[in-house]
Amino acid sequence: MELVLEAGRRSPSAGNWQPWDFVVVTDSNDLKELARVWQGAGHVARSAATVAIVAPEPRDEQERQLLQFDLGQATMCLMVEATDLGIGSGHSAVGDQDLARSLLGFPVDRFCAYLIGLGYPLDRPLAPIASLKRRPFDEVVHWGRW
Ligand SMILES: Cc1cc2nc3c(=O)[nH]c(=O)nc-3n(C[C@H](O)[C@H](O)[C@H](O)COP(=O)(O)O)c2cc1C
Repeated sequence: MELVLEAGRRSPSAGNWQPWDFVVVTDSNDLKELARVWQGAGHVARSAATVAIVAPEPRDEQERQLLQFDLGQATMCLMVEATDLGIGSGHSAVGDQDLARSLLGFPVDRFCAYLIGLGYPLDRPLAPIASLKRRPFDEVVHWGRW
């Protein structure tokens, strides 16, 4: 977990403002409660650990956009490090901020942007996905110009 969190802490950010805090939840009852913050958070309840990405409320539209980009990078750094360690991960959005705050205890000037559920797959070692649900390479990549 410390390696995963260290990867998030080292993420790049606009002006190096590092607008993230990580709250790590491992207690299974707490995880079940935390999963109630969003209808698509079922995997959080069943995770071995979940990292809550907490951030300051943006002060304007520019800060909001930078924040989204920077939190995305920190999230991806955590997830790539986890993958490298054979640990599966999955995002969850957060709907009920009041519930998230009461469970996690972060200050009123912060919000919980995402939850990242982590765990070892039960049935197999983590491996590259054989059939990837992604747009084709040649459709996405434009060499030289569009
Ligand atoms: C910003 C963002 C929010 C997401 N929110 C949720 C979520 O609330 N619940 C969930 O189960 N998955 C969530 N996901 C996971 C995506 O559904 C998933 O990455 C996408 O369907 C591709 O699937 P794959 O990553 O397994 O290839 C989210 C992913 C991102 C990038």
